[in-house]
This record gives sequence, structure tokens and C-alpha cells, in this order.
Amino acid sequence: MTSTLDVARQRLTTVGTYLMAPAELNAHLGVGDHVWASFGEHWEDLAPDTYAAELGTTRLRRYGHFLFTPADGTAEPVPHEAFIQPDDSNPLYVERDRYFEPLTEAFTKDPLLQRILQFMGELATALDDVEQWSAKVTPFRVLASADDAGQPSPEGPHRDGVTLVTSLLIERDNAVGGESSVFATTGHRLLAATLKQPGDLLLGDDRRTLHDVTPVRPRDPARPARRDVLVVTFAPSTRSGRPRRQ
Ligand SMILES: [Fe+2]
Repeated sequence: MTSTLDVARQRLTTVGTYLMAPAELNAHLGVGDHVWASFGEHWEDLAPDTYAAELGTTRLRRYGHFLFTPADGTAEPVPHEAFIQPDDSNPLYVERDRYFEPLTEAFTKDPLLQRILQFMGELATALDDVEQWSAKVTPFRVLASADDAGQPSPEGPHRDGVTLVTSLLIERDNAVGGESSVFATTGHRLLAATLKQPGDLLLGDDRRTLHDVTPVRPRDPARPARRDVLVVTFAPSTRSGRPRRQ
């Protein structure tokens, strides 16, 4: 029988992207639908993204860095540091280190985060045979009002400069828009989908695709719109914690 992991691996290595349904992800993680609401409580404790604010968008986030070792399936947190965007990836932040608040201790130690990192680490290892992965974990909350659309991807179509890029929907509230697209480097769109259900997971081989998300707006203009996601990226580690220059 073909497993979820086999299908995801096959799509990632051929098409370059795969959208995994919550039922598939939950089955692989060994969890029920209910876990996303409790995991989502970490999103109530994020910090303002001052860099996104410069661009006029309201975004909250934190940042954590882990080293994932495929041989034993462990994901160990490493000391907090500035966020380095690898070369030739995000045009807004070339050679500009950004500082973000660290993940809370409760978030870092959440067993579900560990399980997610192990699962994604297996997928990254399907893309490349790497001794150790640098896994960067960013919970995002984008807020929008009737006057101000929320920009999940203010830079437009971009790469993150890594091997595997993942976006996991945690929750949406009163939101329309926020459609994700994945493009080949030729500009051809490989996939378009709106992550709507908690546990919807978009995967991309970042070495040969670009990704983008359209603005989010409130469905009911009297209330703010909210989109909570977990973005995790995997790049080969140099063990120093900084990504290998590509
Ligand atoms: Fe990105």
C-alpha cells in the first residue's frame, strides 16, 4: 500500500509541490482534528513583526531554529539568533539580518511541534541526502481590516533559499483571499490552493519553485480577518547554525 509519505515524496520529487489534506497529515502524525485548536493557542502569544509593519502590513510572528538529524529523527533547538535569509532568495531582505522574538518555551517543547518537525524532516530527506538539517520554524499571524488588507507574502513570488518549504494552516477566521500559489522557476503555475482547514499543509521543493500568497481581507468588514500559519523550512546545516550558501 502506498503511504501518505510515499505520495508526498513522489509529488515533491516530480512536480516539486504537494498539498496534503488534514486527514492525511493527522493520520501520519497520529493525532485527531482537535489538536490544531490547542496547538493554535501558541498563536495567541506572538510578537509584532516590525519589518512587515514598515511595509504597512500587520503581521505577528516568532522564530525558532532546530537541527534535525535524519539518522535518529531528533530535532534539537539551537540558541536564538538573527534570522538570515540565504542569498538570492527574498529580494526584500538580501543581506539584511532580521531579529524576531524567539518561540516561547512552551512552543519549543510542544510534543506536536517535535512530531511535525520529524515528519517534515523525513520529507526533506526525500529531497536530499543530508546528514543534518537546519529547520527554521516561524508561526505567523496575519491580520486584516476592511481598510487594510493583510499581506501574507508582501515580497510577492519568492524562494526562501532552502530545500523544503512548508506552510501549515492552523486557523483562519473571517478571512477571504489568502490563496497560495507555487510556480516553477519558468513562471508556470504548478498549484493554486487556499489553505482553509486546520492541518492543510502545502509543501514545496524550494530549489526549483517559487511561492506566493494573495492578500487576506475580512469576510465581515465589521470584524478583523485572521490567518494563522506555521511555516517551516529545511536547508542543509553547516552545524554552525547558518545556512550553507548556495
Ligand atoms: Fe516564503
